[in-house]
Amino acid sequence: MTRPDHVGPGLGFTFDGRRIHHRPGQTVGAALVEHDILAWRTTRHDGRPRGLFCGIGVCFDCLVTVDGIPNQRACVVLADEVEEITTQSGSGHDRLALRDPADD
Ligand code: FES
Repeated sequence: MTRPDHVGPGLGFTFDGRRIHHRPGQTVGAALVEHDILAWRTTRHDGRPRGLFCGIGVCFDCLVTVDGIPNQRACVVLADEVEEITTQSGSGHDRLALRDPADD
């Protein structure tokens, strides 16, 4: 696999503190895969790793936290527009998380 060594300075974001370089117009998911990072989320119930699946914004397997906002699809978010990516566990604990009726 070819590494994106030719990209210019400043084209990059951090992933859990690690600097990731990307190509102009590349998605976050594509940049992570190019750096051999294949999983950046764990499932809600079993904690299983997830990354790209459909790659076109349909399956929501690739959810990640972008600049502090959880539940963003890495396969459609442009890397040019973000500074910090962090892994996400389960629902991401944001306002979009479903309430458990048992809690009422
Ligand atoms: S990989 Fe399916 S929505 Fe991103």
